[in-house]
Amino acid sequence: MTKARPRTTAEVLALARPFLAERGVEAARLEAELLVAHALALTRLELYLALERPVSDAELDAARALLVRRAKGEPTAYLIGAREFYGRSFAVTPAVLIPRPETELLVDLARERFAGRAAPRIAELGTGSGCIAVTLALELPAATVAACEVSAAALAVARANRDRLLGSDAGRVALVEGDGFAALGSGPFDLVVSNPPYVDPDQSAELAASVRDHEPGLALFAPRGSVDHWAHALVEAAPRLLAPDGVLLVELGADQARRLRPWCAERGLVPIFHTDLGGHERVLEWRAGGKLPA
Ligand SMILES: C[S@@+](CC[C@H](N)C(=O)[O-])C[C@H]1O[C@@H](n2cnc3c(N)ncnc32)[C@H](O)[C@@H]1O
Repeated sequence: MTKARPRTTAEVLALARPFLAERGVEAARLEAELLVAHALALTRLELYLALERPVSDAELDAARALLVRRAKGEPTAYLIGAREFYGRSFAVTPAVLIPRPETELLVDLARERFAGRAAPRIAELGTGSGCIAVTLALELPAATVAACEVSAAALAVARANRDRLLGSDAGRVALVEGDGFAALGSGPFDLVVSNPPYVDPDQSAELAASVRDHEPGLALFAPRGSVDHWAHALVEAAPRLLAPDGVLLVELGADQARRLRPWCAERGLVPIFHTDLGGHERVLEWRAGGKLPA
């Protein structure tokens, strides 16, 4: 940072923001605030309200250490142990994928489809931090959710998020350790959701270094040679997992819709592809009853 020792929160922020920006961190302002707030054991709002607060040497050292680690590529969410998803803070560790804003589209669609439904039964494959399963349970208070996850370390994070965010209602989200659909049981479910691993391992060089070097490969990469493996598996399993009018929602990576459209057509299936705010066909929706959504 600089030789002149900053004395207040405002002075630390004034150094932290350009420090990250000059080292290529895109959202430098936001991330600097999150990291400095964390070092001072404050929320971001509290930080704004404490701009003239004196900063101790220990706090300054803690902030500097976090900023240096961020500048070297570690994601802010892992450094502070949390990430916001659908307006709530989820705990994250390097065992789980950092929840992405794109994934909120999947939650929006599930809410639209099931808001009025009596007691929807939901299954999720690959829950990671639990951000989808827990958010759906909170947004659809009559729902029950069964979510599976192959990584025991990730499942521990999901469990902590579920228990903190749902409290006495945590029993509505069953978290099961296991590989693939077998862990979900036989259903039938009204909704099957998944944000499965969909990055081609042979294209890992195209990922941002902060993703490639820090987020779990188990969460990122599809099986080698079969980048559409999970989308295919979910579409193929849907008729047996879903209730007669059930819905499948699968998050997709860039380019997947282009390949999946003809693959589905060959099987007589007509899914809908929903576009995210970035203009990517991000979510595949398929309805067991064949009825298209209104
Ligand atoms: C892309 S991440 C999604 C995590 C979270 N649902 C989200 O949207 O942020 C995919 C998750 O699937 C899990 N996973 C990978 N292979 C799996 C398998 N065979 N069975 C169950 N879960 C699996 C990974 O460990 C990871 O947590």
